Parts: sequence; C-alpha cells; structure tokens
Amino acid sequence: MTLHVVTGASRGLGAAMVRQLLREGHEVAAAARGPAPEGLDEASSARLHWTSLDLGDPEAARRWVVQAVAARPHADGAVLVLNAGMLEPVLPVASLDAASLDAHMRLNLLSPMLVTAGFLQATASSGTPRRILAVSSGAARRGIPHWSAYCAAKAGLDGFVRALNAESGPDGSVRAVSLAPGVIDTAMQAVIRGIEAPQRERFLRLHADGQLATPEDAAAALLGYLRRNGFGSHETDDIRIAIGRPDQE
Ligand SMILES: NC(=O)c1ccc[n+]([C@@H]2O[C@H](COP(=O)([O-])OP(=O)(O)OC[C@H]3O[C@@H](n4cnc5c(N)ncnc54)[C@H](OP(=O)(O)O)[C@@H]3O)[C@@H](O)[C@H]2O)c1
Repeated sequence: MTLHVVTGASRGLGAAMVRQLLREGHEVAAAARGPAPEGLDEASSARLHWTSLDLGDPEAARRWVVQAVAARPHADGAVLVLNAGMLEPVLPVASLDAASLDAHMRLNLLSPMLVTAGFLQATASSGTPRRILAVSSGAARRGIPHWSAYCAAKAGLDGFVRALNAESGPDGSVRAVSLAPGVIDTAMQAVIRGIEAPQRERFLRLHADGQLATPEDAAAALLGYLRRNGFGSHETDDIRIAIGRPDQE
C-alpha cells in the first residue's frame, strides 16, 4: 500500500489529485482549512483521512503530517504532494508589508519545509521508498512584476528540493521534484484575473482563449509524472516540458 499525503486539497488542483487517487483505490491523508472535496462515493470517503487545518501554521502542519503518516500503513511507499499555496500579496515591492509577507512565506515556504521534515521523520523507520512532489510555478524561474512574494517563495521551494536531494544521496530512497504545473483553471487564476497588476492582461487572454488546463487534466498529468521511473532525474521541472520527454530522461 502506497500512502499519499496531499496539502491544500479542498479545491482546485489538490482536490482533483485527491479525487483521482481515491478513484484508483489509494489511501490518502489530506488537509486544508476548508472541508474535504464533495461528491465522493462511500468507498472513496473511507479511504480519505481529512484534517481541517491552517497550514499557515508550520509547526501545526508538521504535527499533522507526523500523525497522519504514523497512523497508516505505507509499506510499499509514501508520496507527499506539497500543493497548498496562495498568491497574495500582489503589490509593487515598495508597498510590501511584514504581516502579509509573513503569512505568505509561512504557507508557501516554511510549511512545505516542515511538512517535508515531518514526512521524512515519520517514514524513516519503514525503509519504504518516498517521493516528494512540490508544486512550484513558472514564477519560481522568471520575475513577474508585483508577484515578488510568490516568485521568492516558489524559488525557495525549488532551492529546498535541490538541497533535500543533495542531502538524500544517490540510493533513491528519497526523491523530490519541484514541478511547475502549467496554467490551471482554479480559484487562484480567478484571483490573478481579479487584481490590477502588470501581467493581468496575459492571464485574461489565456482564460478568454481557453488556454487553461482543467484541474482534472492537470492532476492526471502530475500524478502520471509522479509515477515515472525517472522521477527525480530533473529536480526542478515544468510539466509542459516534461510531457514531451520520454521517461528516464
Ligand atoms: N492555478 C494555476 O494556474 C497555478 C499555476 C502554477 C502553480 N500553481 C500552484 O498550484 C497549487 C494549487 O493551486 P490552485 O491553483 O489549485 O489554487 P486554489 O484553487 O486557490 O487552491 C489552493 C488550495 O490550497 C489551500 N490553502 C490555501 N491556504 C491554506 C492554508 N492557510 N491552510 C491550508 N490550506 C490552504 C486551499 O484550501 P483552503 O482555502 O480550504 O484552506 C486550497 O485547497 C499552488 O501551490 C499554486 O501556487 C497554480
């Protein structure tokens, strides 16, 4: 049994991944502040272990993952998907304030780091293979005006994954990838379209032209990526590039 742990699964990409994992028969531990995704059948509901939690509290997030993993069998492997995230503050750098930056960094960077710490700690003694997928963004790798908090946090996640892989060594028992998922039709995109900022036009156009992936298609692509034999060979990656690349490369 491979246990899957997913953060930020009440809606959007995370909810779509959880739905798909449950349909495939997996055990899933997941959290967000809101309720679990709706419309699950009885068998799926029984395999979903949901916790309503503010992941912006990194220590609470770490305690959650330790308990969630320790309580469930994961003899065949354990997978962590670091998906929860937020966009705001969307502001020029000169207008940034400490409170909004603190909330952003807690959710988008500190919490994924401590959730990973808890996940590694809780799975260490089982000797099981572990895969960690951090949901990054193209914004980690190029500057977007007024998105400095998001760019910095996602770039931080990329750096964290590199350091984790360097620390884990070549035996392959822990592999991590920070993966940009493409542009997806979720609440976060609605937030982007709703805020007056320099890149807004581009995202309005992508939406109007039907260029956004559905959460379901994006979830299927990311879960397919997680199962690649060569998972970890590109520690920072972009699903739009990876999709055309044969496995193992
Ligand atoms: N959509 C895109 O085009 C796009 C592009 C690149 C990267 N991404 C990344 O993809 C990931 C998923 O984004 P999405 O588009 O699916 O966004 P979304 O629809 O806004 O979903 C975000 C998820 O994170 C959870 N979350 C937010 N704040 C939280 C908190 N304080 N504590 C616990 N959970 C929290 C939300 O649940 P609650 O509100 O119920 O807590 C929700 O389940 C994010 O990391 C995002 O940066 C998205």
